[in-house]
Parts: sequence; C-alpha cells; structure tokens
Amino acid sequence: MNILVTGGAGYIGSHTVLELLLAGHEVVVVDNLSNASEESLRRVLELAREEKPDVREIPFHNVDLRDRAGLEKVFADSKPFDCCIHFAGLKAVGESVAKPWEYYENNIGGTLTLLDVMRKHNCKSVIFSSSATVYGDPAVIPITEDCPKGQCTNPYGWTKSMLEQIMSDLHTADVKAGAEKPWNVVLLRYFNPIGAHPSGRIGEDPNGIPNNLMPYITQVAVGKLDHLNVFGDDYDTPDGTGVRDYIHVVDLAKGHVKALGAVERNCGLAVYNLGTGHGYSVLDVVKAFEKANGLKLPYVIQPRRPGDIAACYSSPDKAKRELGWEARYGIEEMCRDAWNWQKNNPNGYKN
Ligand code: NAD
Ligand code: UFG
Repeated sequence: MNILVTGGAGYIGSHTVLELLLAGHEVVVVDNLSNASEESLRRVLELAREEKPDVREIPFHNVDLRDRAGLEKVFADSKPFDCCIHFAGLKAVGESVAKPWEYYENNIGGTLTLLDVMRKHNCKSVIFSSSATVYGDPAVIPITEDCPKGQCTNPYGWTKSMLEQIMSDLHTADVKAGAEKPWNVVLLRYFNPIGAHPSGRIGEDPNGIPNNLMPYITQVAVGKLDHLNVFGDDYDTPDGTGVRDYIHVVDLAKGHVKALGAVERNCGLAVYNLGTGHGYSVLDVVKAFEKANGLKLPYVIQPRRPGDIAACYSSPDKAKRELGWEARYGIEEMCRDAWNWQKNNPNGYKN
C-alpha cells in the first residue's frame, strides 16, 4: 500500500515507518519537525536497507498539517494514498493544561484540515493515534474497548477524545448516506509506549526535562538528572505506586502494520487497544531497569502528581483476535532497549 504518515519523524512514527518499509509498503512522511528531527528518518532508511537493500528513499515533506496549501501539494505530488496513519500532534499533558488553545488548534485544527484534504483526494482510510487517556479513570481493569470513554483530566486528552468522535461521525454519516466508499477509521488506543529500536539508533528524543517515566529514568541513569521522583506511594495498588501497561515501541509500531489489514478488509469503524495486558508499578519498572542494565537508580518518593490515576492496563484480546497482533517484548527488554538508545545517544539526535 502507499501510506501517508503524518508525524512520521517522531518517536512512534519513526519506528512505524521502519516496520512499514520492512513489510513492503511505500511511505510518504509529513512532519513539521516541531518535536522531531529529520535525522530519525535518515536512520530509519539505513536500518531498513540493512534488511532490504532495495528499499526506496522516504519522500519527506516539512509541512504543517494546518497549512492546507502545503498539504494539497503533498497529495498532488504523490501517487494516490491508500491510507493515512496519523501521528502528528502535540502530546505533552502538562503543557496542554498551560496552553489549551495551542493544543486544540494544532491537534484538532491540523486533523480537520488533513481529513478534508484526504477526502478531496479520495483517500478515506485513516489510522489514528489515540490513547488510553480517553478512558479517564476506568471503572474496571483490564480495560476493554467497550469500556465507556471517561472524563479526561487535561486538554491533550480531550483532543484525542474529540478527534475520535469527529472521525467516527465521518464514518457514520457516510454509512447513513449509503456512500459507495464510506470512511474506514481505525482508532488505536495506545497504553504507555516505551523503549526503542533494539539497534539503539532510533528512539525517543524529548525536548527539555521529560515528563514521562522511562525517559526520566534513562536521563537519571545517564547522569543528566540527579534522581527519579516517584509520584505517590499511597495508591490502592500492590506497592502503592501507579500501575501502567508499558508497551515496547516496536510492538506498537507492528500493531500499525497489522491495522492496515483491517483497512484492506474495509473495516468501517474499528477501535483497538494496543497494550500488553500487564500492569507494572513505578517501582516494578525501577527494579526491571536496574536488573536489565546492571545499574542502581536513585529515587525519592514524592506526593502524587495531579491528574494521575492509580492503575490502568489493557485487555489486548480484541487486537489479537481481529488483527492477529500481540505484544512480544517484556518489561526488561523495554528497559534494556530504552537504555541502549539513551547511552548511545545521550543527546538524542542532536549528536
Ligand atoms: P512525537 O512528538 O515524537 O511525534 C509527533 C510528531 O508530530 C512530531 O514529529 C512533531 O514534529 C509532529 N507534529 C506535531 N504537530 C504537527 C503539525 N501540526 N503538523 C505536522 N507535524 C506535526 O510523539 P509520539 O510519542 O511519537 O506520539 C505520536 C502520536 O501518538 C501522537 O499523536 C501522540 O499524541 C500519540 N500518543 C502518544 C503516546 C506516548 O506516550 N508517546 C501515548 C498515546 C498516544
Ligand atoms: N511517574 C513518576 N515519576 C516521573 C514520571 C512518571 O513516578 O517522573 C509515574 C506516574 O505518576 C505514573 C507512571 O509513572 O504513575 C507513568 O507516568 P507517565 O507520565 O510515563 O505516563 P502516564 O500514564 O501519565 O501518561 C502516558 C502519556 C499520555 C497517555 C497515557 C496513556 O503521557 O499521553 O500514557 O497512553 F495518554
């Protein structure tokens, strides 16, 4: 298939572009490089060619999704796209609380323009990067896809929830109108992506001090930060610290390749959790990181972080049943690969 990947230079996008190329797909990337570097794509191509020497260049367009003319040109200059995998967006939870307008404008504005240009060019299949955050504080865990969506605790989460609704409505309107070719919409709800490609050549390159657990841990391990702050040890969880479903980014990337199968089968509207189904506490992750890498990780217990929930992990059964996808990597491999990336690239893509 010929796939448009928005946000393809970013963390999950770059790993997915690699898996798409290895699976034999053609890929065009659009990214405004607001949180990424083109170097990631250079390395993706290198990695792809090590396995498949005939892989072609990745056409890259430094275009903002809100730039309608720029996006039109991408479509006009490319052969017709069979599907768009849409990663592009802002994703920092705390920043979204401070700058809600910027988050709604970028994530919702950018997606509306993208969807409009897509339909004008008769590309009506989209795979969207959603998040477990749309479940809010889940009443029941493991979380299945039919669990009702909840109250998001921040504007970032609301952009995901609203975009899910917008794309679902496009599909529903087409069906009601008896459209010959209704929208195919695959909503992928990621749990907590961590780790990096096992080669250590592509990985997560956050700007400034990381908000998320694993990049914070690796920056403590590499000596850039003094210690890990563990946010809360009084949750109703086995050791009192927050429990999450961490998933290796390579497994997540492969989930997108499998989701293309649903698009090919004209799935209509489909929602899948992408997680492992296992919950690990913050202290479990610290221990796994120490064990996998033979390091000691200093940490200090701090008060709870506002907006955090106690526990969240997936039921990944639907994705296994319908997409034939399941996560393969365990928590120690995730910790090994996250550290391998960080120690080989202490300044991310900057060196
Ligand atoms: P990332 O920041 O590394 O990737 C997003 C990419 O989109 C970046 O390369 C950025 O430059 C680009 N971008 C942002 N706004 C753009 C715009 N208006 N036009 C063009 N490009 C734009 O983030 P990621 O971790 O790879 O996340 C990818 C997607 O998955 C995002 O939509 C994110 O919200 C979602 N997601 C991420 C997580 C996570 O923990 N990483 C969890 C759930 C969902
Ligand atoms: N944590 C710490 N110290 C830190 C960072 C995090 O103790 O320095 C704890 C948190 O309190 C939480 C766990 O580690 O218990 C995971 O926190 P993250 O910030 O890594 O991840 P979240 O589960 O809060 O959120 C992430 C993404 C969201 C996404 C969500 C579900 O940041 O965008 O996963 O996919 F919506």
